[in-house]
Amino acid sequence: MPLITKAVRGTRDVLPGESHEYQYIERVALETAQNFGYKEVRVPVFEHTELFERGVGDTTDVVQKEMYTFFDKGGRSITLRPEGTAGVARACLEHGLLGDALPQKVCYAFTCYRYDKPQAGRYREYTTFGVECFGAAPPAADAEVIALAAEYFSALSLTNYRIELNSIGCPECRKVYLDNLRAYFSAHTGELCETCLGRLDKNPMRILDCKSPVCAALAAKSPVVTDFLCGDCKAHFEGVQALLKAMEIPFALNPRVVRGLDYYTRTVFELVSELPKLEGLALGGGGRYDGLIEELGGPHTPSLGFGLGLERVLLQLHELEAPIPEPEPCALYIANRGDEALTRAAQLANELRAEGLPAQMDITGRSLKAQMKYADKLGARFTLVLGEEELQTRCARLKDMVTGMEEPLGLDGFADTFAQIWFRLAEEKMLAEVS
Ligand code: HAM
Repeated sequence: MPLITKAVRGTRDVLPGESHEYQYIERVALETAQNFGYKEVRVPVFEHTELFERGVGDTTDVVQKEMYTFFDKGGRSITLRPEGTAGVARACLEHGLLGDALPQKVCYAFTCYRYDKPQAGRYREYTTFGVECFGAAPPAADAEVIALAAEYFSALSLTNYRIELNSIGCPECRKVYLDNLRAYFSAHTGELCETCLGRLDKNPMRILDCKSPVCAALAAKSPVVTDFLCGDCKAHFEGVQALLKAMEIPFALNPRVVRGLDYYTRTVFELVSELPKLEGLALGGGGRYDGLIEELGGPHTPSLGFGLGLERVLLQLHELEAPIPEPEPCALYIANRGDEALTRAAQLANELRAEGLPAQMDITGRSLKAQMKYADKLGARFTLVLGEEELQTRCARLKDMVTGMEEPLGLDGFADTFAQIWFRLAEEKMLAEVS
C-alpha cells in the first residue's frame, strides 16, 4: 500500500542513524552553557500570538509572513514559537525569576517554527540552541555571551566561521539613525518594493533585510548605524570589543548586521560560515535587548542572548568532517535457540544491562544464522550462542567479532566476567586514544 502521506514540506525526520549527532551537539551545548552559569529552561511550543507580535515586532518578516498562527478551540489566537527569546523571557517574567539574584542565566535547545521557503539549511521546523542572560547591562555581559558561543564551537571542533559584530544603538541614537535612513530611502521610493514602501514609515531598518536585489542594492549604500551612536552606546560598543580582544576572540566589525527581529538594542552579532559550500550561512545570531522585558510588562531589565540553528551547526560539522562520537555499540549479542536458552539469555542480558553494559539478545525466534547476521549488522562487539548443549555444560563460547577470537566462558557469574572483559577493553581504548 502506498504511504498515505509524507512529512510536511520543510520538516525533517531525525532517524536512528543520525539522532546521536543531535544528542551530542545538544549535550555539548548545554554543558558549555552550564560552565558559564546557565541553567536549562523548557517552555511551551506555542504561546499567545500577541507575545511574538509585541516581543519580536509586528513589522518583522518573522511576524508578518512566517508564523504558524491558528485559533484554538477556545477561540484564542495561538502561535507556534518562531524563536526562543520571547517565550523564555515571558516564562522568566511570569515566574518571578527577574526579581532578584540577577543576572538570571537560562539556556534551551528546542524546535521552532517558521513558514519560510525551505532550502538547504532552512526548514519550517528547526532546532535552536539559545542562551538568555537577564539583568546585565555592562559590556562584560556581551563579551561573555559571545565567548560562550565561541567556546561552544571550539568544543565541537567547529571552525571556518566568523563572528560579525555591530552595535545598533539605543532608542535615542537609533531615532536619529532611523530619520536619516528614512530620508535616504524616501529619495528612492520609485525603486523600493511594495513591502519596503510599507516599511519606510514604520520601521525603515527592516528594509535592510529585504531580499529583493533592487532594495538590497539601495540598502548597501544606505547610512550605517554606527555613524549615529551616542556617546554611551559608543563607549559600550568599544568596551565589548576591548574585552573580546583581551579574551583573544576574533571578530569582524560589520555595520550592516542589523538582525531581523525588533527587540535588539546596542550589541548585535552573527556567526557566519566561511566554508565555500556554506559561505554566508548564519549559524547563529544574537545580541542585546534592553527593552524587551519592559515591552512584555516587566521592569527595566537589560538583557541579551543568542540563538544558533542546530541543523546548520550539523551541516557545518559534516562539511568539516569534524569528529562526532558514535553511540555506544552493542557490547554483547546473545543468540539463542529453544525456550530454556531464551530464558537464560533474558536473565544474562538483564544482568549485563544492570552493570551498565549495552546488551541485546534475539527476541524474534529466527534461525541462529539469521541471528548472527543481525548481530553483525548491529556492530555487536561480542556474541554468545546459547543452546541446549551450552545450558547443559554451563559453558558457552564468547566470540570477539572484531578479532574473530573465541573463548569458552562459564555461564555462572558470566555477567561479572564479561563486564571485566568489557571495561578492560574500554580502558585500553581510552589509553590508546590518549597516547
Ligand atoms: P535568528 O537570527 O532569527 O535569531 O535565528 C537564530 C538562528 O536560528 C539563525 O542564525 C539560524 O542559524 C537559525 N534559524 C533561524 N531560522 C531558521 C530556519 N528556518 N531553518 C533553520 N535554521 C534557522 C533568533 O531567533 C533570536 N531569538 C536569537 C537570540 C536569542 N537573540 C537573543 N537571544
